[in-house]
Amino acid sequence: MRMHKTLLGSLVLSATLSLSAQTNELVIQTKKLGAKIQPTMYGLFFEDINYAADGGLYAELVKNRSFEFPQHLMGWNTYGKVTVKDDGPFDRNPHYVRLSDPGHPHKHTGLDNEGFFGIGVKAGKEYRFSVWARLPEGGTEGKLRIELVKVNSNTENQAFATQNLVIDSKEWKKYQVILKPSMREAKSTLRIFLNSKGPIDLEHISLFPVDTWKGHENGLRKDLAQDLADIHPGVFRFPGGCIVEGTDLNTRYNWKNSVGPVENRPLNENRWQYTFTNRFFPDYYQSYGLGFYEYFLLSEEIGAEPLPILSCGLACQFQNSDPKAHVAVCDLGSYIQDALDLIEFANGAVTTKWGKVRADMGHPAPFNMKFVGIGNEQWGPEYPARLEPFIKAIRKAHPEIKIVGSSGPNSEGEQFEYLWPEMKRLKVDLVDEHFYRPESWFLKEGARYDNYDRKGPKVFAGEYACHGKGKKWNHFYASLLEAAFMTGLERNADVVQMATYAPLFAHVEGWQWRPDMIWFDNLNSVRTASYYVQQLYSQNKGTNVIPLTMNGKPVTGAEGQDGLFASAVWDAPTNSYIVKVVNTTDKALLVPLTFTGLKKHEKLMDGICIKLHSTELDSDNTLEHPYAILPRTTMPISITGTALDAQLEPYTFAIYKFKKVRK
Ligand code: AHR
Repeated sequence: MRMHKTLLGSLVLSATLSLSAQTNELVIQTKKLGAKIQPTMYGLFFEDINYAADGGLYAELVKNRSFEFPQHLMGWNTYGKVTVKDDGPFDRNPHYVRLSDPGHPHKHTGLDNEGFFGIGVKAGKEYRFSVWARLPEGGTEGKLRIELVKVNSNTENQAFATQNLVIDSKEWKKYQVILKPSMREAKSTLRIFLNSKGPIDLEHISLFPVDTWKGHENGLRKDLAQDLADIHPGVFRFPGGCIVEGTDLNTRYNWKNSVGPVENRPLNENRWQYTFTNRFFPDYYQSYGLGFYEYFLLSEEIGAEPLPILSCGLACQFQNSDPKAHVAVCDLGSYIQDALDLIEFANGAVTTKWGKVRADMGHPAPFNMKFVGIGNEQWGPEYPARLEPFIKAIRKAHPEIKIVGSSGPNSEGEQFEYLWPEMKRLKVDLVDEHFYRPESWFLKEGARYDNYDRKGPKVFAGEYACHGKGKKWNHFYASLLEAAFMTGLERNADVVQMATYAPLFAHVEGWQWRPDMIWFDNLNSVRTASYYVQQLYSQNKGTNVIPLTMNGKPVTGAEGQDGLFASAVWDAPTNSYIVKVVNTTDKALLVPLTFTGLKKHEKLMDGICIKLHSTELDSDNTLEHPYAILPRTTMPISITGTALDAQLEPYTFAIYKFKKVRK
């Protein structure tokens, strides 16, 4: 049946082709093994935007678990006698609640947590409820009833998971019970009843699925982490983005606050709470539960090089024009020390101060970090002035670490033109470029890196996505143009050594920025067409560039090239040639592929073709229809000698792979 469909498709295509009569021969010169493609080439950029961390990848289901939000009971509904206290056991998170006798046997004291857009749980799965608690002065009997409830429910019983917990100590102690919901519910509420007279003190109230990514207790949502692993990323950039810089210096990402026991990691504001007033989320904070240790561990577990980005002492320049908002160059000492200490945290022996912190957290072996970024989207002379002392100190203490500098927030223009020579002068190893640009830009930038200086710093395309003009949401055409543009990254792999699409995650109810690579709600996630573009590149990145030309020229969508973009690589481990071709037009195209330079005793076989294609240019996969746009594989593809007539439907990203074997 499948064969018939393919055959029918080819017949229709051939009919269209004979009408348009377009031919574009792509010549792949197999003999000329070009630049090595770095293992870091295609990666991921993670930022806590769109509830990507708390409420997203970080699997904690309780919001404001330590009562440290400025409104200490935000996210909680209390009833009976609940008071907030501030002399708790964790000095950096001192607040907690006291539950006391409501004064009448028929009344209740307790509190409900609303989670992040509700609490998502699955039937029959286990959820670990934990709490730090004590019986304070006067407390003799400490009984709690813990429930998952559906508040607006028509069933007889609101609760669909219940456990009892006895608090038996006057000292602060951690208690836990396992809840097993009897039904699947995306928007449940966690309810904690005082089931005795009390009083009882409660702090750091937490609920995690037991089944997290790799089973870690302070873990990550398994489905979302799996989405990341399935990309096979070469690099993992974290923790941002603008949150590195902070709205002001107080709210910059401070990695030292994000490590050590999770109960004592202080809360930070999240700038995406209020950056866009039309997408305002007053309850958006960073618990730092997903902190630098967890980022390093995740990088290791998904096989990506960790790339932390640190504050260079400039608060977000979009939001701070007053020079006093930033750290003066002469006062950068503690910021530079933070960078040096981070290298020690990641790579130092367990006998060092920060190496010991890492070991105490469960990872005595070094994380083997090789890269660090200083500054996010910075600009003006104030940036190089601050970057320079960081570079001096890092080079002196750790010449093995590669340093990433910034070329500002724009893909070209005054700041960009100023910063690139500055980055060369300072001899950074890589320059981070950002481009959220419209279709027209992606269509004309196929040759962007062809003439870049080969002797200067390498390029890290650290944040990019095609933002459709007037269509700033995920849609297939934008993803297709990303695929087209990426042929230029690949062709220039000698200068472009890392590329990460942005942003990565978005909660459907809590986004601030679109498009994004992976969307999710409390229980499900969906991979967009842009996700599949990234995955196809990453899984077919090869080991060396090989020249691919049409009429002697690289295929960059230039005039006379019929909207085609293409690149080719050799993959040593599989002995294969991999050709990527993107047809960005509304016409079906016949694209003959000719492989030159094969030896007499060599031939190509085991052909595979993978296509990402849609006729619905303005739409994408959604949680309701997650598989609307998927890569489709056809195999075997037979090749006549060294030539193949590739047939490309309109708006198609195609990958052709052939194994080289002895005849
Ligand atoms: O990816 C969203 C934001 O875009 C990042 O935080 C910032 O670096 C860029 O402006």
